Amino acid sequence: MSLAASGSASTPAATTCRDGRDAAAWTVADLERDTGWIRRLDDADRADLLAGLRAGRVPGKPFLEYRREDFPFGERVVGRLRDAVDDAQHGRGVALVKGLPREGLAPEDFECLTWAIGLHLGVARPQDRMSNYINPVKDVGAVYRSPTGRGYSSKSELDFHVDGGDVVLLSCYNQAPVGGDSLCSSGVAAWRVLVDERPDLARVLEQPVPHSRQGEQPEGVAPWFLMPIFARTRDEVCCTWNRNRITNGFRFDDAPACSAAQTEAMAVLDEILRRPEIMVRMRLEPGDVQILSDFTTLHSRTAFEDHEDASRKRTLYRLWLSTPNGITLPESLSPFWGATGPGVVRGGTPGQHHDDTRRAFVARQAETLGMRVTPGSH
Ligand SMILES: [Fe+2]
Repeated sequence: MSLAASGSASTPAATTCRDGRDAAAWTVADLERDTGWIRRLDDADRADLLAGLRAGRVPGKPFLEYRREDFPFGERVVGRLRDAVDDAQHGRGVALVKGLPREGLAPEDFECLTWAIGLHLGVARPQDRMSNYINPVKDVGAVYRSPTGRGYSSKSELDFHVDGGDVVLLSCYNQAPVGGDSLCSSGVAAWRVLVDERPDLARVLEQPVPHSRQGEQPEGVAPWFLMPIFARTRDEVCCTWNRNRITNGFRFDDAPACSAAQTEAMAVLDEILRRPEIMVRMRLEPGDVQILSDFTTLHSRTAFEDHEDASRKRTLYRLWLSTPNGITLPESLSPFWGATGPGVVRGGTPGQHHDDTRRAFVARQAETLGMRVTPGSH
């Protein structure tokens, strides 16, 4: 991984808003000064992961049929991975684990390894119209800007956004030869800058705005919903910015119109997120897994050019996880996430193929992890 930042590394000016998330309000300088957010697995960890994968993997077996105990990785490496998830949820909001076994693994083995790791850490959430609980992040020619487009299936540069779990895990199998760098910015740091520089616009971004479901909703569910971009509890702030979904949300005839103040506020937010002292750039390498909070850390990636050889094309695997020890959310985030308390399966987008097999997986995995399921736990 290369961690590249250009420009100065100044800290955002102090703000009158206390949000209780100092670690999550990192700047590029903070991540360069203390690299504890990067964890390197060792040979023993890799051996434990490979042994567990070999013990459990049955080629062709549907992922939703696996159970956590099928993959006995051992507490040592699982503890390291759990620490990274906890740093993402309760600390910096960003973690990078390097050194998953990759050499000699076929893409489907590496995908299964990613899935199996997820079984130890949380309840996977559905991510799309097809109700998939894990997705390859790979260019299949999708158009990101279309009303039903999703960035992960394109090779476009993406807007800053969050995904739909407590945390998102992104494991890297192949990287592109050109581009495809990950970009991350702290929504908490951006909030502090906004409150300091433009408190009027900070207030605007606390108002609910329409979010499109990108045409992925099941029958009977409205195609858009209202949710704020920044939401606060008494002393914490969450940022769930997603320009693509909000831009499409404002286009619905029955949705509220976008005001001039909202347009300005969203533009200023995007400008802050890309400031050199705020935005960190990292290049995932094969065997890396990036773990981000979906409540404090915005992510994006640069456009890329891919290999001609199909076997070498940029391939990452993405999991959205609801975790047993997530943070307490502001009530205003319930339109997407459902339950706001920790320990309840929440988040995800049910899609149009959410069937008994999927419901059974969620119930079984929740029980394994001691979590509760509600009607909103797709
Ligand atoms: Fe994403």
